[in-house]
Amino acid sequence: MTDRERVQTDEAKGPPETDPRIAGEKHPVAKMIGIGLLASLVGIAITLLIDWFPEDAAGSASQIDTLYDVLLICSVPVFVLVMTIAIYSVVRFRAKPGDMGDGAPIHGNTRLEVIWVTIPFIMVTALAIYGWVVLDDLEAKEANAMRVNVTGQQFTWTFEYPSEELQARELVLPVDRPVEFRIRTKDVLHSFWVPQFRLKSDAVPGLTTELRLTPNKEGSYEVVCAELCGLGHAAMRQFVRVVPTGEFDSWVSKQKEAAGGGGGGGEPAEEQGAEEGAAGAPGEQIFTSAGCAGCHALAAAGSDADVGPNLGQLSRADANAEFIRRSIVEPDADIAQGFSADVMPENFGEQLSDEELDALVKYLLEAQE
Ligand code: CUA
Repeated sequence: MTDRERVQTDEAKGPPETDPRIAGEKHPVAKMIGIGLLASLVGIAITLLIDWFPEDAAGSASQIDTLYDVLLICSVPVFVLVMTIAIYSVVRFRAKPGDMGDGAPIHGNTRLEVIWVTIPFIMVTALAIYGWVVLDDLEAKEANAMRVNVTGQQFTWTFEYPSEELQARELVLPVDRPVEFRIRTKDVLHSFWVPQFRLKSDAVPGLTTELRLTPNKEGSYEVVCAELCGLGHAAMRQFVRVVPTGEFDSWVSKQKEAAGGGGGGGEPAEEQGAEEGAAGAPGEQIFTSAGCAGCHALAAAGSDADVGPNLGQLSRADANAEFIRRSIVEPDADIAQGFSADVMPENFGEQLSDEELDALVKYLLEAQE
């Protein structure tokens, strides 16, 4: 009999009733399903026992954690079932050494195909609806929300409280008060993320993105940039402090006093610069609000970042106004030893007015150790 004739006879007979390799076994499929169910239960128990998230500090966190648990409960059995069938089949139906024959020809199994299309379809649709309901809830506007404008830039975050007419490098929020963040970037993509609040939003050039949440637990949490944005990306971390309302109010007045009060030169600060930005603010505030502290160490400003050179320890030859000014407006004109060009944004100086630039240069000169 030729191979072709043999195939034709096999096809005529149809697939064998029972595969000879499992012929001696009682209920092989039931056994496989049993193993799969047991493994699923163990898998679900393990994934639910794992503490996936840090503590939650916002009203939205528990909803997101529950959604995550439901996703795990639905996806673990699917994964375990597929893997059980695959591993079982590989072990149970493997070819004997020397067996070069083809497997039995199979033309499909309609009932099985309907089942494995319908069940995942129902599961994915239900999860999509559930996810949408949660998202809709998270994005709902709250009547008494406090707005905070968040600006990302290489490599720092700055925060503006429009209702308080205040700009700050530190994010401070009153507990239990809804917040609406408006997120922007001055340069490349960043992503505003506080793991304890669970929510995250990209800062996209040309767009303003929004994020709403209500911090509900006092404490200090990290604000993280979650989008690779350049050499200092990993250092783009600040803190958010969630404090009682009274403490927030006194923080606001203290910040305003510092911004409006004593500058370096003793000259009265300009009355509330109409432009956004820290017009008339002392050099130290420009140093922090313009983002210098995101990359440069400066003992006087309490910054210890090391993406760029330490600005408190300029060499004697470099510690002059002309050099400092040029290094701000033309960052690549002179590259300090051990650092590379193209790290500091080329247009960094453009965000500063002439007065701000003067104040910053003066401050850096005075801040030499
Ligand atoms: Cu900004 Cu990463």
